[in-house]
Amino acid sequence: MGASLYEPINVYKPIAPDIGIVDGPCEYLTVAGVRLPLPFTTRMTVVRLTNGDLFLHSPIKFDEALGNELQRPIRHLVSPNQFHYAHIGEWSKVYPDAITWASPRVRQRARARHVDVTFMRDLDVNPPEEWRRDIDQTLFPGGYFKEFIFFHKASKTLILTDTIINIELDKMPEPWRTATKLTGMYHPRGQMFFGMRLPLFLQRRKAKAVLAKIHSWQPERVLLSHGRCFESHSDEVIKRIFGEPPIESKASKLSPPR
Ligand SMILES: [Fe+2]
Repeated sequence: MGASLYEPINVYKPIAPDIGIVDGPCEYLTVAGVRLPLPFTTRMTVVRLTNGDLFLHSPIKFDEALGNELQRPIRHLVSPNQFHYAHIGEWSKVYPDAITWASPRVRQRARARHVDVTFMRDLDVNPPEEWRRDIDQTLFPGGYFKEFIFFHKASKTLILTDTIINIELDKMPEPWRTATKLTGMYHPRGQMFFGMRLPLFLQRRKAKAVLAKIHSWQPERVLLSHGRCFESHSDEVIKRIFGEPPIESKASKLSPPR
């Protein structure tokens, strides 16, 4: 039995002007080529840039009706981490003018799993010219699980993939419900993905700069790939999960504009 989906799936759900989500079908965790019976729900975020181009974050399984529903041009197909890339090739075949953006190690992972996808560009700690005006980004230091996180400026939306997991337990079948409960990464007090916590601790200096950046964005909502998104009180969520803002970022908030 799979997890309960965020119905309706494959339909664009607006969140704020120029940004929305599309919930996708269930997928299963694959480890060393073996598909485990652990189901999880999928979600992509869609941003319309000021120039009209569409930015698809972590594209879900391609669906023709969904492709027709989305406006054009579909320009950016973004893999935020090495675990979220599997459907980029499907979208890229239908929209060959779209640019495919690679996360660290994703090419090796796709090759090892014989997933047909060609990445054209690499994400960087700074946003590229193509979406700099609308979206800021940084690399969240989670070691093997590191991922690029994004911030849509106009809607003040933080776009995460696996950095925070907030599973709704009643959507999970047993024994996964109990297993999820043991991890603590469940709604309403979702947590940082446990695999990232030690690498974050070991890279304290990098982490401090990234967390200061997240606080400085002052997000009003947090979109996640797995589980329920945080659509309000996101300042409390961010403080609870990432800690209080570092002193410098508090000070810079208080200092008068120059
Ligand atoms: Fe994920």
